[in-house]
Amino acid sequence: MKATQKAITLLVTMVIAVVFVLGNPANAQQAKAKAWPVPDKNKTMKAPVKLADAAVIANGKDLWAKNCKSCHGSKGLGDGPKGASLKTFPGDFSSAAFQGGTDGELFFRTSAGRDEMPGYEKKIPEANDRWALVAYMRTLKK
Ligand code: HEC
Repeated sequence: MKATQKAITLLVTMVIAVVFVLGNPANAQQAKAKAWPVPDKNKTMKAPVKLADAAVIANGKDLWAKNCKSCHGSKGLGDGPKGASLKTFPGDFSSAAFQGGTDGELFFRTSAGRDEMPGYEKKIPEANDRWALVAYMRTLKK
């Protein structure tokens, strides 16, 4: 009899745990971002600032903390406080796949945005500030 009660208690606990995990929105499956093509002329665009310059990176880091970190996380792992509640995973910016993009591609996507990713052409109107963000994103490489 006691063994049966124990088994029932265990079963109930397991069911509750499964319901909790499946019902928790933080664990909901996030869609992987689809390919994001960039027009050739934007793709090959060269940065007008030195991306390795410490002052440029520092500016980018500051802008990142104010505008991007909430979704992308401080290290660009897609783990910012807002990141998990997005339909689309914001991406792992330390990855070879992300870092393999051209500077022009990162600049274009930052400027134009798409769906949940806001476009920053108006919010960060100075092009050199958006290039500074590209400089900062390059430092996130693993
Ligand atoms: C509200 C959440 C949110 C904020 C804030 C945000 N992003 Fe994003 N970002 C996303 C999401 C979601 C994606 C994936 C979008 C897609 O592929 O459709 C993305 C994608 C990107 C990409 C393209 C990734 C790739 O693989 O090339 C870049 C670059 C980017 N973000 C840069 C930035 C920068 C820089 C900022 C701040 C100035 C920023 N993001 C702010 C949510 C956000």
